[in-house]
Amino acid sequence: MTQDEQKQAVAREAIRHVVPDSWVGVGSGSTANFFIDELARIKHNIKGAVSSSAKSTARLQAHGIEVEELNNVDDIPVYIDGADEVTRWGAMVKGGGGALTREKVVAAASRKFVCIVDRTKVVPVLGTFGLPVEVIPMARSYVARELVHLGGRPAWRMGFTTDNGNVILDVDGLAITDPTALETTINQIPGVVTVGLFAHRGADVILVGSDTGVETLTPAR
Ligand code: A5P
Repeated sequence: MTQDEQKQAVAREAIRHVVPDSWVGVGSGSTANFFIDELARIKHNIKGAVSSSAKSTARLQAHGIEVEELNNVDDIPVYIDGADEVTRWGAMVKGGGGALTREKVVAAASRKFVCIVDRTKVVPVLGTFGLPVEVIPMARSYVARELVHLGGRPAWRMGFTTDNGNVILDVDGLAITDPTALETTINQIPGVVTVGLFAHRGADVILVGSDTGVETLTPAR
């Protein structure tokens, strides 16, 4: 299977986790896009979607799927999203597409996180993919210096503004051996909106696409 076929296979498998007559939390990125396309097939069986980005909202609405504000929804049984890296224990790096903050909020508000990835995303240790950090614009240089103190090499994602009007620093060079601790540390730097480490609230289920099909991992949490 090609990488896209693997993404499509996990997107199709993720539909089995959607709870009928309820809201579905929807992530962002190319794998989430495949999921949105699959969700369109069962749109009459769900209440609608809570979206994590303007791009996903546009795709959902183009399919005729109702998109509701998170503020108006009190129960989301499942959130389905891709990742840039994921360990078998469910910790993830996310934010390659820059939607990390809304992804983290919708994931936190959901009862179950189903991560859908092709096999290239499963890693023993996080950190090869540059860690995205969303920062309010006036704090960019200060936060970058603090990230250097932590051993990272931050680079400003030039020309990119998040859906929240902020900037992204992509941080290379961090050995992320304790994702939960690093998530806390970076989130405590003033000016940081969100770090793209999803460890405190990691994945409950990981659907991994490979040449032979879809493998389901259920990290002990
Ligand atoms: C978006 O901000 C990201 O968190 C995506 O979920 C992540 O980058 C995975 O995207 P792909 O499915 O396109 O690899």
